[in-house]
Amino acid sequence: MGCMAEPVIIEDVDELRALAPVTSAPIRHHVFVCTGKSCSARDSAEVKDAFEGELKARGILFGREAKGKNPKGSVVLTECASVGFCAIGAAVMIYPDGVWYAQVRATDVPEIIEEHLVNGRVVERLALLKLPSDGSKEDSSTGSDWEA
Ligand code: FES
Repeated sequence: MGCMAEPVIIEDVDELRALAPVTSAPIRHHVFVCTGKSCSARDSAEVKDAFEGELKARGILFGREAKGKNPKGSVVLTECASVGFCAIGAAVMIYPDGVWYAQVRATDVPEIIEEHLVNGRVVERLALLKLPSDGSKEDSSTGSDWEA
């Protein structure tokens, strides 16, 4: 507070939507690539570049046309900070599915896109965690084996 200018809160929903074109895109997935220190040391920047290149090639990466992306794309790709997979990076999280992939390399990206994003099948060999999680590694009651 103090001398800082108060942020102006926009309350008009139509105005908010006009200011945020992503709200008019048919978004199906949000992919996060960790760019924390440890994942960066495991080439997470290359992983993110691989996602960007492949998603652009498929025409499904949301973003500005001027940047080679698609304003009506179905995938949002962003970086994120450390999520605790530091020893087993690079970490990639896909929502709304809540799937956390470990030890992802750029060479794994085409498979994750084809299998998970396009065909809806989790890449089991890289998937280590599914949210929500009760924190119990022993719980395998639901049939899906998330233990990589
Ligand atoms: S730096 Fe990526 S999970 Fe910690």
